[in-house]
Amino acid sequence: MALDYQPILLPNPGRSTAVTLKEYQARGGYTGLKNALAKKPDEVTAIVKDSGLKGRGGAGFPTGMKWSFVPKGPGPKYLVVNADESEPGTFKDRDIIEVEPHTLLEGIAIGSYAIGCELAFVYIRGEYVEAGRRLQAAIDEAKAAGILGDKSALKREDGGAFKLDVIVFLGAGAYICGEETALIESLEGSRPMPRSRPPFPAVAGLYMKPTVVNNVETMANVPVMFERGVDFYKAIGNPPNNTGPKIFCLSGHVKKPGNYELPLGKITLRQLIEEYGGGTRSGRPVKGVLPAGVSAPIIAADKLDAVLDYDGIKGAGSMLGSASFIVMDDSVDMVWAAARMIEFFRHESCGKCTPCREGTLWLEKIYHRVLYGTGMQAGDIEQLNDVCKQIAGNTLCALGDFSTSPVTSTTKLFKADYEARLTSIGGASKR
Ligand SMILES: Cc1cc2nc3c(=O)[nH]c(=O)nc-3n(C[C@H](O)[C@H](O)[C@H](O)COP(=O)(O)O)c2cc1C
Ligand code: SF4
Repeated sequence: MALDYQPILLPNPGRSTAVTLKEYQARGGYTGLKNALAKKPDEVTAIVKDSGLKGRGGAGFPTGMKWSFVPKGPGPKYLVVNADESEPGTFKDRDIIEVEPHTLLEGIAIGSYAIGCELAFVYIRGEYVEAGRRLQAAIDEAKAAGILGDKSALKREDGGAFKLDVIVFLGAGAYICGEETALIESLEGSRPMPRSRPPFPAVAGLYMKPTVVNNVETMANVPVMFERGVDFYKAIGNPPNNTGPKIFCLSGHVKKPGNYELPLGKITLRQLIEEYGGGTRSGRPVKGVLPAGVSAPIIAADKLDAVLDYDGIKGAGSMLGSASFIVMDDSVDMVWAAARMIEFFRHESCGKCTPCREGTLWLEKIYHRVLYGTGMQAGDIEQLNDVCKQIAGNTLCALGDFSTSPVTSTTKLFKADYEARLTSIGGASKR
């Protein structure tokens, strides 16, 4: 049975046009910003900390804590919103920008006020041309109405004028551009390769100035806690570790793929697939689910009763990440599926560090030999895992670690799919 829940981030399911400023204000839009501006910036950060909001971009880092790392004092500070949305199976940020651009802008305005930023950036993946166009139109509307810009009519708690410009930047489109330091490099006009840390962006980020990088959905979570109060926000979900609304992107072998906004921790993975997604298209049983696009271990069918929140998915041996659930029914050969994911990581590796650049290539070579060459050999599973050990924990950014998940999880959970291929030693395999 569907939950009795009123969506906050995407309150207009099925709508394909952008909510206008007039419509947004008619439902209380931008009162959260006014309430936030009546407080000191540090109080705003303290409220976001208290809300328990964790970043929705993948790592789940507490948002208020991230804002509190920005040094006080003079000099420019930047808020950069990550709208790269490059994780396969992830399409929630696009929906927020295209339909609810003012929710995002209000969140950006509150976050910018909290950290002392007067120039924010939204880094949008190059393919999201329409999203970029709609966001620019919303910025123009908010400027004309005296909300944003250097002529904003809004006043801060200290009596000064609130000033904020927001720049929309379309990236060229690469998975690595979603990694926050590569994104900063790209924004600066350089090749998108991750930076080594420290220093962290909060201290030296864009143009080496203090910078907060937050995901679109993270920022869209902020207005409601200032409009309706932090206690209202904290009561949504499964406190204390899993508060607030979350958009679950559902795709793969389900009848009704799409974005489903629900409170964290209120339903199980099985309910998401069966009650919201309508079950598998074929009617066949689920074999495995990728919970965070391709960057976290696969969950096997025996863990479908895991609760949909950070702790529940961790308990099932994986990570909630971007909450992009790709469902695979039992027609899927997990050797083939792992190979497709490895091809993706090999292609998207930026090449800056050797274990990732070389390791993903070796993994791909083994999979290609198994699938399209002389077939599976005894010792291949061990060799695949051995290569993963050389990659994981030895790279500059998390892409290296991500690339090992398809291999380690499928060889452990679906060993039979690999062993079935041992029979094809010496001959090309079936697919
Ligand atoms: C390879 C790679 C790709 C990533 N892609 C994205 C992305 O497309 N969107 C995103 O918001 N975060 C992405 N991240 C996470 C960001 O580095 C960063 O943690 C996030 O934007 C922080 O925002 P949050 O705290 O609001 O989640 C990626 C990380 C890695 C390592
Ligand atoms: S882990 Fe891979 S993607 Fe990340 S910096 Fe190293 S080579 Fe580039």
